[in-house]
Amino acid sequence: MSEGDRLTELAKRRGFFLQSSGSYGGVAGFYTYGPQGATLKENIESAWRDRYVTREGHMEIDGPTVMPEAVFEASGHLDGFDDMIIECPECGESHRADHLVEDAPGSTVEDAEALPISEVEALFSEYDIDCPTCGTALAGEPIDDFNLMFGTNIGPGSSSPGYLRPETAQGIFVEFPQLAEYARNQLPFGVTQIGRAYRNEISPRKALVRVREFTQAELEHFIDPEEDEPPLHRVEDVVLPLYSVEQQQADDGEMQELTVREAVDEGVVADPWIAYYLGVSKGWYDRIGVDMDRFRYRQHLPGELAHYASDCWDAETEIGGDWIEVTGFAYRGDYDLAKHEKHSGEDYSVFKQYNDPITVERPTVDPDMSALGPEFGGAAGAIADELEALAERDPDAFDGETVDVTVDGESYEVAVEQTGFSVEEVTEAGEHVTPHTVEPSFGVDRLIYTVLAHAYEEDEVDGEERTYLSLPPETAPTTVGVFPLMDKDGLADRAQELARDLRAAGLEVTYDDSGAIGRRYRRQDEVGTPFCVTVDYDTLEDGTVTVRERDSTEQTRIALEAVGEQLLALRDGEQRFESL
Ligand code: GAP
Repeated sequence: MSEGDRLTELAKRRGFFLQSSGSYGGVAGFYTYGPQGATLKENIESAWRDRYVTREGHMEIDGPTVMPEAVFEASGHLDGFDDMIIECPECGESHRADHLVEDAPGSTVEDAEALPISEVEALFSEYDIDCPTCGTALAGEPIDDFNLMFGTNIGPGSSSPGYLRPETAQGIFVEFPQLAEYARNQLPFGVTQIGRAYRNEISPRKALVRVREFTQAELEHFIDPEEDEPPLHRVEDVVLPLYSVEQQQADDGEMQELTVREAVDEGVVADPWIAYYLGVSKGWYDRIGVDMDRFRYRQHLPGELAHYASDCWDAETEIGGDWIEVTGFAYRGDYDLAKHEKHSGEDYSVFKQYNDPITVERPTVDPDMSALGPEFGGAAGAIADELEALAERDPDAFDGETVDVTVDGESYEVAVEQTGFSVEEVTEAGEHVTPHTVEPSFGVDRLIYTVLAHAYEEDEVDGEERTYLSLPPETAPTTVGVFPLMDKDGLADRAQELARDLRAAGLEVTYDDSGAIGRRYRRQDEVGTPFCVTVDYDTLEDGTVTVRERDSTEQTRIALEAVGEQLLALRDGEQRFESL
């Protein structure tokens, strides 16, 4: 069984995730999180909130998942959010053309998405690619662009088209004017959103890795590109496993380990803000349970960059020999805010007040239309507009006796005295700045998949094979399993009382009194419960319980009244089991 199949089987059996609507045959690309999975997801989201909202001091919003068409016209998703699709003429199945090229036997192509369609079509012939569903040859079949957005109509009728958002980011960008007010118009400030995003993927695959409905946790950090610098000193010593474009193109393809400071100083990570967030995130991945020996930051190849990004690094995790993108760190420049300003007509800038007002020289014109009209006829108005633009662009053009202007390809010579050109001194209190955006964008479902895959362990306990999930206590859906040794002699009552007390103390508790104690341990091991507490006959005698740690299977006895406090300290990483 592959690593992925093994995980999917465990996930379904133990209530982490399963394909949705299974009674109706299931729908590819949609998953339901079961009781364990829903709590695991909540734990990862709350660890994210703790790191990126609370500790970084950013705001959080929660916007709708359906947005009007105008938003996606402005963002570029309506025109540019496409994948390459090829349809089998025999069975009618659609496939992602770039993926078939990359996966073809003998293929050396790593980034087919970046190639023009005509080249990908040629590669189908070169590699003799067949339909993976029915085996029919696909060479010569046309490849088209397929837009990944799910469309809908807002309200009855079709006059108001809308789309399910393909990224939570747009919900932040469209509200920028109001969000800037909340931030008192002071850059830099960051806005986060955790929520569902939708993409009508051509070929959903690998369980949670490529789905049609998924959860993103995104941060849009708005900065003044001229002035704002990240607090790099906070993370400068963090060592980053980097896989830059240069290394990807080199023969040996080795990764490079550099501290955040070295990566910036050596120009490997060109933007210090991106470097800052790579540094912040590394500790966070470790905290939620990503195996850092199966982790890297990979820079996007030039053809791979999204339509809005000028530099992008992905955090990638290794599962079953494949590298999976779990987060994109993109420098989006002013792309989004400038587009929304242009399309909506609203002001998407921030007014930056100077410490002291400054005096500047401002060239202006006041064309004498009573002279321009008779001389240039119908072109006079356009000439006056061009003179105004020219004064701002190139005031030196007004130095002579005449000035040359071009309107609709025609050249005109205007006497400077007719332009009313002058240079005024004006006092300015500040300026309008369109912020740039730095965006770490996390895929929560891929992180869940990674954390489960990396936590999966098998060993032997008391001569029996055991499967367990070595999840960090903070991430594990259940923190403690409480068992009575026997369901008699008052042990069950004591254990139930303990379970109630531990829940009241804020712990996630499972109570289990069915089957042999060893079986109960195995059940908790398989869902990653880090601690189990057993109430036995000694408990009735001396008021102590057995606490057992999942990975080592070590056991120790502690006093009933201390158990809640100790388990909370273990969950929060304030205490280690060995020191109990
Ligand atoms: N706002 C930027 C953005 O959406 P992206 O790289 O397209 O960038 C960000 O997506 C993250 O969302 C990815 O790193 C990945 O973890 C997750 N993601 C994207 N498409 C996904 C899909 N079809 N299924 C599961 N996760 C997905």
